[in-house]
Amino acid sequence: MTSVLEVRQLSAHYGRVEALHDISLSVADGEFVAVLGPNGAGKRTLMRAIMGLVANAGDVSFRGAALPRQSPDTCVARGVVLVPEGRGIFAPMTVAENLELGAYLLNDSAEFERRQARVFNLFPRMRERLGQVAGSLSGGEQQMLAVGRALMADPKILLLDEPSLGLGPKVIDEILSTLALLNKEGLPIVLVEQKAPLALRLSNRAYLLSVGRLIAEIDPRTIKSHDELARYYLS
Ligand SMILES: Nc1ncnc2c1ncn2[C@@H]1O[C@H](COP(=O)(O)OP(=O)(O)OP(=O)(O)O)[C@@H](O)[C@H]1O
Ligand SMILES: [Mg+2]
Repeated sequence: MTSVLEVRQLSAHYGRVEALHDISLSVADGEFVAVLGPNGAGKRTLMRAIMGLVANAGDVSFRGAALPRQSPDTCVARGVVLVPEGRGIFAPMTVAENLELGAYLLNDSAEFERRQARVFNLFPRMRERLGQVAGSLSGGEQQMLAVGRALMADPKILLLDEPSLGLGPKVIDEILSTLALLNKEGLPIVLVEQKAPLALRLSNRAYLLSVGRLIAEIDPRTIKSHDELARYYLS
C-alpha cells in the first residue's frame, strides 16, 4: 500500500524543553494506526506537531506533498484534520455553529449541506441538538460533535487524540464503531489512545511512544494478552 502520511525526524519543543525527539512514522492508504503511550509520553504533542500547532522541526508530507511546518490551515486545506485532546468544542456556541466552524475553509453551500448530512447520518443526535449550546451536551455528545466538526472539514486523513477520555463504555463503543466505519469507507485514521486494548482492536498497526520517543511498532495480531502489551510498555 502507498503511504499517505509520512513523518520524518519530527521533533517538537515547548520553550527550551524538547518534548518529541526524532519521530519517524508513516500511515498507508486506508490504514487505521494507533499511537499508544502512557501519560506525558508526548502523544498530544505529536498530533500538534504534525498539524503545525506547536513549534517543531522535521518533515511531514501528505500524499507526496510537504506540509509547511507551522501552518495548521494548510494541513486542514490538504485534508489533514485533528480531533484534539479534550475535544476543543466551543462551549458557548450551538452545535450548528460548531459544525459551521469545522467547514471554515468552505464556501459552497451545496457541499456544506452534503457534509452536514453525512455528519447527521453518522451521529443522528447532532441533528436533534443543532440549536443546543455545545457546552450543555453530554460528554459523549460533545465528542460526537468534535468528530462531526472535523468531518465538516472533509478530511482525507483523520487524527484523533483520546476520543474515549472520560466517557462510558457504551458511548466509547458508539464512537469507535463510527471510526471503524469511516475507515472501512477508505478514510485513513490515526488514533491516539491510552486505553491500548481498545485501540489495538481496531488498528492495523500501532506505534508505542514513551518519553517523547517512538520505542516500538506493534502488530496488533501478535498481542495475545495484556501481559504481552505490558512487556512493551516496560521494555
Ligand atoms: N504547553 C506546554 N508547555 C510545556 N510543556 C508541555 C506543554 N504541553 C505538554 N508539555 C509536556 O510535554 C510532555 C508531553 O505531553 P503531551 O501532552 O504531549 O503527552 P500525552 O502523551 O498526550 O499525555 P496524556 O496521556 O496525559 O494526555 C509532557 O512532559 C508535558 O508536561
Ligand atoms: Mg494526551
